[in-house]
Amino acid sequence: MSEIEGIQQPSQGIPESTSAETYQVPTGFLANHPARPHIQSVHEYKELYQESITNPNQFWARQAREHLTWERDFQTVHTGSLLHGDNAWFTEGRLNASYNCVDRHAAKNPDKPAIIYEADERDGGEGRTITYGELLREVSKLSWVLKSMGVNKGDTVAIYMPMIPEALIAFLACVRIGAVHSVVFAGFSAGALRDRIIDAKSKVVITSDEGTRGGKIIHTKKIVDAALEGCPDVRSLVFQRTYADVPWTYGRDLWWHEEAEKWPAYYAPESMSSEDPMFLLYTSGSTGKPKGLMHTTAGYLLGAAMSGKYTFDIHEKDVFFCGGDVGWITGHTYLVYAPLLLGIATVVYEGTPSYPNFSRYWEICQKHNVTHFYVAPTALRLLKRAGDDWVKPMDSLRVLGSIGEPIAPEVWKWYHDIVGQKKAHIVDTYFQTETGAHALTPLAGVTPTKPGSACVPFFGIEPALIDPVSGNEIHGNDVEGVLVFKQTWPAAARTVWGSHKRFMDVYLNVYPGYYFTGDGAARDSEGYYWVRGRVDDVVNVSGHRLSTAEIEAALLEHPNVAEAAAVGINDEMSGQAVNAFVAIKNKDANDITDDLKKEFILQVRKSIGPFAAPKAIWIVSDLPKTRSGKIMRRILRKILANEIDQIGDTTTLVDPSVVDKIIATVGVTK
Ligand code: WTA
Repeated sequence: MSEIEGIQQPSQGIPESTSAETYQVPTGFLANHPARPHIQSVHEYKELYQESITNPNQFWARQAREHLTWERDFQTVHTGSLLHGDNAWFTEGRLNASYNCVDRHAAKNPDKPAIIYEADERDGGEGRTITYGELLREVSKLSWVLKSMGVNKGDTVAIYMPMIPEALIAFLACVRIGAVHSVVFAGFSAGALRDRIIDAKSKVVITSDEGTRGGKIIHTKKIVDAALEGCPDVRSLVFQRTYADVPWTYGRDLWWHEEAEKWPAYYAPESMSSEDPMFLLYTSGSTGKPKGLMHTTAGYLLGAAMSGKYTFDIHEKDVFFCGGDVGWITGHTYLVYAPLLLGIATVVYEGTPSYPNFSRYWEICQKHNVTHFYVAPTALRLLKRAGDDWVKPMDSLRVLGSIGEPIAPEVWKWYHDIVGQKKAHIVDTYFQTETGAHALTPLAGVTPTKPGSACVPFFGIEPALIDPVSGNEIHGNDVEGVLVFKQTWPAAARTVWGSHKRFMDVYLNVYPGYYFTGDGAARDSEGYYWVRGRVDDVVNVSGHRLSTAEIEAALLEHPNVAEAAAVGINDEMSGQAVNAFVAIKNKDANDITDDLKKEFILQVRKSIGPFAAPKAIWIVSDLPKTRSGKIMRRILRKILANEIDQIGDTTTLVDPSVVDKIIATVGVTK
């Protein structure tokens, strides 16, 4: 079955753009500005954008030479096409990611802060600042350590780390020696970590003894131990974070601090070709098996540097605070690579927005004079609900970013009025693991914004809307369809690790000649884009991208689950939430207790991770299936949304009476 077989109709309702309020660049943004925005006007954006679309080779060649330091220049800007999925950029060029993020700044400004670490409050909330000079030494030492463990250019290294500076040091040491990092979010279970280690063929896992977050301990090393039970050849390197007494496997595990002190504080960066793989990042799709998106060196770095500079209008003394986790693409691109490529300070915050209280983010902004704050709407919803009294005056803030899910207009306005005191420019940025960097976004200091809209395309992105029924492009404005991009861009992922066919089938063969995002979107009368959400079986829970198929596969591991169907529904706090319908086996009706439902939820927590746990389990006698055995999840979604009148034709079901039984179970009114 093709992964995108069930493209859903994007949700209906074209935004009334004429009545949607437009916000101009706040005057306070300019008053608070250290110089002038990099791009001065909408006109300048439009000219540059036009060049990026009509003359991409000229545009990207200039940008690549301006933003990256090359060991050897390139001659060819781009080869390949979306049709063939063989894109390559800057092919003869050579460079090193770690050199671009660290060395070039350390040479000029060794004492400039690179990483500002704010520890979790659990043990007093201390932190420290690491300068570019120190970062070069730390990264070099770890590079030596990894080499001594047998990691060579092209090998993969898994990183399973809490939000501490050493996570960034681990990223940078990998790319310094030409190894490919594969970061696994430290909320994934041992089983999920093991799957990713095996799929990527990681040689080493870098982890910590434990992590601490929101006052709670995360047993990272224990989870790694359990994951490695299935991978006898993989070694682990353990950073001492809490100094807990952790189990130790001699011959396999090494302490970071003991190894690092053996090695010199400079390691020469490996010379890499532009298209050498830089990292893998696993993400969810429509089928159960997570896919490792592969990003390559030069194109990805260029996307990170340029979007950092232009979306956020970053200047050299700025302090960037990204609340996203390093385990996701937002953390990769905007917590690690963009700020460091631009030579500014990035805040690494280990804790949560609500511990020990709801002022934690704002205190950090105050304490470190944060100029840019970037977070998912899920955190903003939480903080808005907690009340305005928790918000502190933060005069340094110039840009407030939103990422990962649609932001409701009232949350956007709260961000603008209360957090930004109407002085900061709000940027609602749309991108994906696959796009590497921003795809649709306003540019700070330039683009007039509309609450709830990701606004306009970033350089090189040529968006289009497709009618999912006819497969034809929908032209004009005030239209809605499936969001695709008509030409490729340097930061695009190149493949799915070990499965280029899957890459082609999921992204490029759906509408040949286009890149398929998996999202539905509207284009309003002024050409602004409004991203509606996924049209495939992907659910976005608190900004975490989950595959319903993966959750179903996890449920099926439980001995009492005969069949399972997971769907996403709207949720006030988490944006979307997962509900699972389960048909059970080997149990009597009397045994259907809340404990059994809890067991099913636990099964998902164990198989994937706590963040994937369904919010509700519905035990049903049967699922709505067609004669070919396809589960009609659309019907389940309609029942949960209490839109019974929109269920539509059920005559194609093997047993249409199933629908009424499910309605009775869920308890909605007809
Ligand atoms: C969703 C996260 C609306 C979208 C960076 C996309 C958004 C998926 C926005 C990618 C936004 C991301 N407005 N929806 N500003 N940004 N999304 O790969 O559905 O974890 O396809 O990358 O998040 O999730 P991913």
